[in-house]
Amino acid sequence: MVRGVASKVNRAYNFPMKLFLDTANVDHVTEIASWGVLDGVTTNPSLVAKEGKDFKETVLKMCALVPCVSAQVTATDAEGMQKQAVEYSKWHKHVVVKVPMTVEGLKALRFCKEKGIKTNCTLVFSLPQAMLAAKAGASIISPFVGRIDDAGGDGMQLIAEIMEAWEHYQFSTEVLVASTRKPEHIERAARIGAHIATIPYEVFKKLPLHPLTDTGLKKFMDDWTKTKG
Ligand code: E4P
Repeated sequence: MVRGVASKVNRAYNFPMKLFLDTANVDHVTEIASWGVLDGVTTNPSLVAKEGKDFKETVLKMCALVPCVSAQVTATDAEGMQKQAVEYSKWHKHVVVKVPMTVEGLKALRFCKEKGIKTNCTLVFSLPQAMLAAKAGASIISPFVGRIDDAGGDGMQLIAEIMEAWEHYQFSTEVLVASTRKPEHIERAARIGAHIATIPYEVFKKLPLHPLTDTGLKKFMDDWTKTKG
């Protein structure tokens, strides 16, 4: 299994697949971080707009809670992205600059690699895009599985194909399963051996639940209470 440079730097816990929260809501990050299993956060302009809070302030609050926070550039030309990347990277050492998978984005990824700025290449929908982003020096790539499923494809199949290619070529770029919609996406990501899954708050909250845990605990507590009677 290929393990990326970023994973050595950022891994907070021992289970190999890192779990990120996909949100710009600081309260949600605080809550899930308190469970002791959260390795990072991904934000994007839509998530930030939904919360209506100051972007830099939000990123800094999250950086205090987790070791890896993706902050997306809003420029679309390489020069503009590079300028934003330099700026964001100075905010906090936990910032990972998110760059879209475009030709301009590739130029910005190469620039960041040379400057030692950590990056997450977002909006990846194919194996050639994944390879180009890795060759350009992305620390992380984010294939969007849910949006592929929404369009009638199989997002997790793309993850399997990327991981297969990675095994051959020893890319250090981490594969982050993005746009997850349900616990099954996380299960399949772990079985395939993806490096990271980013998970919406509502889906994250479902991960610890199982009906047999609830009934099992109830029975234990009922039996325990009887011994007191
Ligand atoms: C990833 O970094 C993105 O923020 C996210 O996963 C996009 O998911 P969506 O397709 O639910 O918007």
